Amino acid sequence: MDHGYPVDKKEAVKQTCAVCHTGKTIEIVDGWIDSKHSMNMVSCAVCHGSGHNSEENIDKAEKATSDKCIGCHQMQYDQISAGKHGYSLEAVNALPGAHGKIGSDRKCDTCHVFTAAQVESEAIMDIASDTCTTCHKTHSFSLEEAGKTSNCMPCHEGLNQLQGEVYASSKHGELYKLKQKGELSSKTKVPTCATCHMRDGQHHMITAWGFYGLQMEPPKDDEWLKSRRLIFQAMGIENADGMPGFQNETVKKISLMRLNPDEWKEERGKMIKTCKECHSGRETKRFFKAADNVIKAADILTAEAVRTIFKLYDNGILEKPDAGCLLFPDISGSSGKPTAIENRLNVMFFESRMTAIREAFHNNPEKAAQQRLVTLKQDLDAILKMAAELQQ
Ligand code: HEC
Ligand code: HEC
Ligand code: HEC
Ligand code: HEC
Ligand code: HEC
Ligand code: HEC
Ligand code: HEC
Ligand code: HEC
Repeated sequence: MDHGYPVDKKEAVKQTCAVCHTGKTIEIVDGWIDSKHSMNMVSCAVCHGSGHNSEENIDKAEKATSDKCIGCHQMQYDQISAGKHGYSLEAVNALPGAHGKIGSDRKCDTCHVFTAAQVESEAIMDIASDTCTTCHKTHSFSLEEAGKTSNCMPCHEGLNQLQGEVYASSKHGELYKLKQKGELSSKTKVPTCATCHMRDGQHHMITAWGFYGLQMEPPKDDEWLKSRRLIFQAMGIENADGMPGFQNETVKKISLMRLNPDEWKEERGKMIKTCKECHSGRETKRFFKAADNVIKAADILTAEAVRTIFKLYDNGILEKPDAGCLLFPDISGSSGKPTAIENRLNVMFFESRMTAIREAFHNNPEKAAQQRLVTLKQDLDAILKMAAELQQ
């Protein structure tokens, strides 16, 4: 049913706009004609203004940035703002060393800009992203196009995000590739990033474990609990006496982790529902148990390394960083030069531990446990050896 622009009006647009523009523009016009926009009276002028209609006034054609979309699609904008994408710029200012050493030379705002408000306040327009048009491509604005994994890749590959690479190497990613190449029926149900992270078209992007695989709810397992506490101390989130550390406010400000168990369970629940659309409940349960156990095992190994370095501070063998914690001040450069042993912990936390978590949730938790826990053990062994040498 076509209850928008009448056919003759569409033809008129074709006449006025397509007349001058060459092939590329005809594609634009045809895309628009097929879109929900033309069916709902959203004309070219709504997005580009009506100042331009000839070669003499090209400069009057308005750029269709996201602020043009928000008036009609407030809900999606609000959802993005409330999710982690909405915290993008705040996060950069709050934790400059968040990606560890691998991220220290990268221009943060190529990825960390998402809302129109941020774009305006920072006046950066040469960015890789625009709030809506990053995923919604002109002029068909097709939902299938929006759901392509290539829309997420520019920001979720490289550094220590790695979801792109890990997804590509997973069974899901392999099937997706075959489907793209037409070697698999287009009807085969294969999950993309958006299938799992934008359930029911919601734009509020957030997960249970978050970027660092942390949450405030204390684990029931005693060894895991002690390990988590030490990691919190190393990050400056908690002090040795269990009181909030100097980074505690930052955690809240950028929603670095889920602060209450309900919030965590809600996100986990949505994900389980998604898996169950294609897998059995038992399979899904087994998957998440194994994946959570990878975080547990990684935490126990990382905490042992933290304990070892804290001992060197206590014994006066190493100079304690000003902020009293290990992970964030060092890499943000506020506490002088980290030593080799501190650097190795940095690698252990920001590379080995993060990779283990990515592989656990985006590929295969059993495989991740086998491969990455070996890497984490190597890091720990190296740290223990360096500590022994320093103590001699
Ligand atoms: C008389 C010729 C002519 C007509 C009619 C015309 N355009 Fe253009 N338009 C141009 C030329 C030339 C350019 C610059 C080259 C290009 O981008 O293809 C341009 C560029 C644009 C741009 C890009 C501007 C930019 O900053 O990159 C938009 C958007 C646009 N036109 C929209 C329209 C719309 C909508 C209509 C119909 C109302 C229209 N044009 C009618 C000639 C025309
Ligand atoms: C729902 C909003 C929307 C509508 C309606 C719309 N456009 Fe666009 N258009 C965009 C966006 C977004 C871009 C990409 C950003 C930009 O260059 O402004 C764009 C880009 C363009 C460009 C530059 C493209 C290029 O590749 O250089 C032209 C030309 C253009 N539009 C013409 C049209 C014409 C003609 C119509 C009507 C048939 C139309 N647009 C309708 C949103 C819209
Ligand atoms: C003047 C209002 C208006 C503006 C401006 C507008 N849209 Fe829309 N858009 C609509 C309407 C109406 C629909 C159809 C909704 C429906 O069918 O439920 C729609 C549908 C969509 C859809 C769904 C398409 C589909 O096939 O289901 C997407 C995606 C979309 N718009 C994105 C955008 C983006 C991105 C912009 C800015 C570049 C934009 N819109 C600007 C009114 C607008
Ligand atoms: C290649 C794109 C990219 C670049 C460049 C980048 N980041 Fe990130 N950053 C991301 C992505 C994607 C995430 C979220 C990944 C996840 O949740 O697994 C993230 C996460 C973060 C977080 C964690 C936020 C949280 O609450 O979990 C902070 C803080 C951060 N980045 C700061 C920075 C800083 C500072 C820079 C520049 C030195 C930077 N980023 C450069 C893509 C990037
Ligand atoms: C990170 C990628 C991404 C960004 C950014 C994004 N969207 Fe979407 N959007 C999607 C995907 C994927 C879907 C389709 C989900 C589905 O198939 O159910 C979608 C669906 C939609 C729909 C159709 C909703 C429906 O229920 O039919 C609208 C309208 C829309 N987006 C508007 C926007 C607007 C406006 C913005 C900017 C404020 C925006 N989107 C930003 C990926 C994105
Ligand atoms: C322009 C860059 C960019 C694009 C494109 C992008 N993201 Fe992100 N994404 C980020 C950044 C930056 C963060 C971290 C923001 C923060 O934590 O402050 C993030 C965070 C997330 C999170 C939250 C993880 C957590 O901490 O719980 C999810 C989920 C996510 N993105 C999924 C996606 C999906 C799915 C797509 C594609 C449909 C996508 N992103 C496209 C930059 C991007
Ligand atoms: C089969 C479903 C599925 C697909 C496909 C998927 N993810 Fe995830 N993603 C998850 C699960 C499950 C988690 C962990 C959720 C939790 O914390 O319980 C997660 C976590 C994340 C996080 C938070 C940090 C992390 O790595 O643990 C980001 C960011 C993210 N995914 C982005 C992406 C991107 C980008 C893609 C596409 C390249 C993608 N995801 C594909 C299921 C999926
Ligand atoms: C849209 C359908 C779909 C969704 C949603 C989906 N999967 Fe899959 N998954 C598949 C298909 C198809 C395969 C390949 C056939 C098979 O092994 O059953 C697969 C395979 C797997 C495998 C086997 C990997 C291997 O190496 O053998 C795991 C593990 C997996 N999925 C986990 C998940 C998890 C966890 C979720 C939810 C976060 C999920 N899947 C969501 C369709 C889906």
